[in-house]
Amino acid sequence: MFKVLLLLCAIAAGPVICKKDENAAECPSKGCTISENCRCSDAPSFIGKANLDDYPQLISIVTDDAMKREIHNDIWLPLISNYQNPDGNPIICTFFVPHEYTDYSLINTLYNYGQEIAVHSITKNNLQSYWRNANESTLTQEFLGMKKILAKFANIPEDQIIGARTPQFQLAGM
Ligand SMILES: *[C@@H]1O[C@H](CO)[C@@H](O)[C@H](O)[C@H]1NC(C)=O
Repeated sequence: MFKVLLLLCAIAAGPVICKKDENAAECPSKGCTISENCRCSDAPSFIGKANLDDYPQLISIVTDDAMKREIHNDIWLPLISNYQNPDGNPIICTFFVPHEYTDYSLINTLYNYGQEIAVHSITKNNLQSYWRNANESTLTQEFLGMKKILAKFANIPEDQIIGARTPQFQLAGM
């Protein structure tokens, strides 16, 4: 997977900058191959349907809701204990945990299974305007406060809680 990411970065980093009203140079039909860190945007996909199994399929699993026993027992536990990656490694999800209704003992269990625990917020306020207008002190209370709550009640070292998800995907000030 690391190789694929590197490759994508290399392709994305090709510095072709056009000035206003100027057409980009045509992509050369020859001399532009993946092995040369080059790919024309109109090139057909190099992933053929026939050999789809040769390519890694990345699936990102995240959740941003309270962790309750029914959800944990009926959905998450079967998922992470009955399935695994093709190489035998466990499935790792990121749980963005809000405070209300969360059972912190379950969060502790998930953490000990190797799952990533991250911050949602304390209030999970469902008004987009609340997050859009939030000032620094509100954001600090919501995010840092939730981190401290997770650390204390789910017994997770604070430095292991790294991620945070903006509620309603709303950034402050925008
Ligand atoms: C931040 O916003 C909250 C909620 O609107 C308000 O009560 C508080 O006074 C504000 N803090 C600062 C430092 O502006």
